[in-house]
Amino acid sequence: MTTNIKLIILPLCLTALTLTGSARAADDQLDEATKARVAKFEQGAASVDVSHYPSGIQENYEVFSQKCTQCHRLSRPINSDYALPAEWERYVKRMMHKPGSGINGGDAKKIFDFLVYDSSVRKKAMVDDKLAKATPEEKAAAEAKIKEIHAKYEK
Ligand code: HEC
Repeated sequence: MTTNIKLIILPLCLTALTLTGSARAADDQLDEATKARVAKFEQGAASVDVSHYPSGIQENYEVFSQKCTQCHRLSRPINSDYALPAEWERYVKRMMHKPGSGINGGDAKKIFDFLVYDSSVRKKAMVDDKLAKATPEEKAAAEAKIKEIHAKYEK
């Protein structure tokens, strides 16, 4: 009798674990190099001082803080070595398409604008360094995007 109940309950528990733990499980599947890299990012600052950013960017920071902390700490993207618009575009899409992200197209746009703006200010040295190594086309596209986002929010 008790064995029968255990046989029923065990698979149910396993299913629940798989569902709730899907993001952590995804992290468990990372290769060692990625694990070490993201662990290092997560040890850094956990928030950004946005008090001097334009109000629209401050609002987007709220969306970023909410949506990008569901599976890992905010310090992971804050201290990551992504900085260029093309890198953020690819990464926000990648995160958005993870199962259960709850990030829609509107959120993704706001988060993207925040990350590009923030990188252009807080990680300016990294942006400049990456632009110096980019092809002329990549450089021109990145500079145009950064300029466009600044113009949109700094009114
Ligand atoms: C559904 C779970 C989930 C959500 C939501 C999520 N992430 Fe992630 N994130 C992951 C996982 C899993 C990894 C591990 C590496 C990978 O899969 O790319 C990761 C890794 C990262 C990395 C490190 C990538 C590297 O390899 O250096 C960055 C940066 C990042 N996420 C940014 C974000 C941003 C920005 C958001 C919000 C738009 C976000 N994440 C939302 C699950 C998530």
